[in-house]
Amino acid sequence: MAKKILVATEKPFAKQAVEGIKDIVEKSGNTFALLENYTDKQQLLDAVSDADALIIRSDKVTAEVLEAAKNLKIVVRAGAGYDNVDLDAATKKGVVVMNTPGQNSNAVAELVFGLLVFTVRNFYNGKSGSELKGKKLGILAFGQVGRNVARVAKGFDMDVYAYDAFCPKEAIEAAGVKAVDSQDALFENCDIVSLHIPATAETKQSINYALVNKMKKGGIVINTARKEVINEPELIKLMEERSDLKYITDIAPDANEEFKTKFEGRYFATPKKMGAQTAEANINAGLAAANQIVDFFATGNKKFQVNK
Ligand code: 3PG
Repeated sequence: MAKKILVATEKPFAKQAVEGIKDIVEKSGNTFALLENYTDKQQLLDAVSDADALIIRSDKVTAEVLEAAKNLKIVVRAGAGYDNVDLDAATKKGVVVMNTPGQNSNAVAELVFGLLVFTVRNFYNGKSGSELKGKKLGILAFGQVGRNVARVAKGFDMDVYAYDAFCPKEAIEAAGVKAVDSQDALFENCDIVSLHIPATAETKQSINYALVNKMKKGGIVINTARKEVINEPELIKLMEERSDLKYITDIAPDANEEFKTKFEGRYFATPKKMGAQTAEANINAGLAAANQIVDFFATGNKKFQVNK
């Protein structure tokens, strides 16, 4: 029997990605449905009521959403981080949750450098800035995005370091990157630290006063990961005390207005999270999500399941 596959994205995919997903779904004999740009949770609750499968981005799939989705068997987060899905609630309901690892990581990595050049050139205010060449870049977490950041950093002739609590040093060194022993060492040693950690119980608020204060004069922290990993009050306190530090982010903090007012010239947040907002990333992640769902229904393949 045909399954209803719903794409529900508050922040829409590029048009070509939506067309590609629709094509995959319909060619497999299933039914395609679309809810884009929704502004109200109720719209999502209504749309999921008869869906068998769901493709999302950062959209929140809470216990309430899962409860409303009576027929739901699978949710695929078209992207990397799945902290927006209530995994326990999904598991309890027997709903398989997957992500599409690596599919949007180049886009995020490219944005890191777009933001970094913008930052070291003083937000293009016309004053003399500095270059990335020869600077020490610390990559916090060496997953798919971290690896892409390292690859691009080498093109800039940066001195690249990484730390990952779950990735052996040998694997980091094998990628031509200098592995350090701890998160502290990364902050102590590097001019710029780029965050690529997921938001988990361990990492939430972990980027705090003590850690960032280890940075040398002129340190830059760039966050294209999650706002939750920042301890906002502590970072504000530190940036008040140290006028040399900069914080650049693709995910506006809760205290965005306070950061903007207090740290003009050393703080920047994109108006909307846009690391993965490229046609290529949308096509890669969206089509991968559609293919994973079609394959799951056809063969039971659960390769990218994250709620095991
Ligand atoms: C991810 O986890 O894949 C990225 O943060 C991108 O998220 P987005 O799909 O909401 O842009």
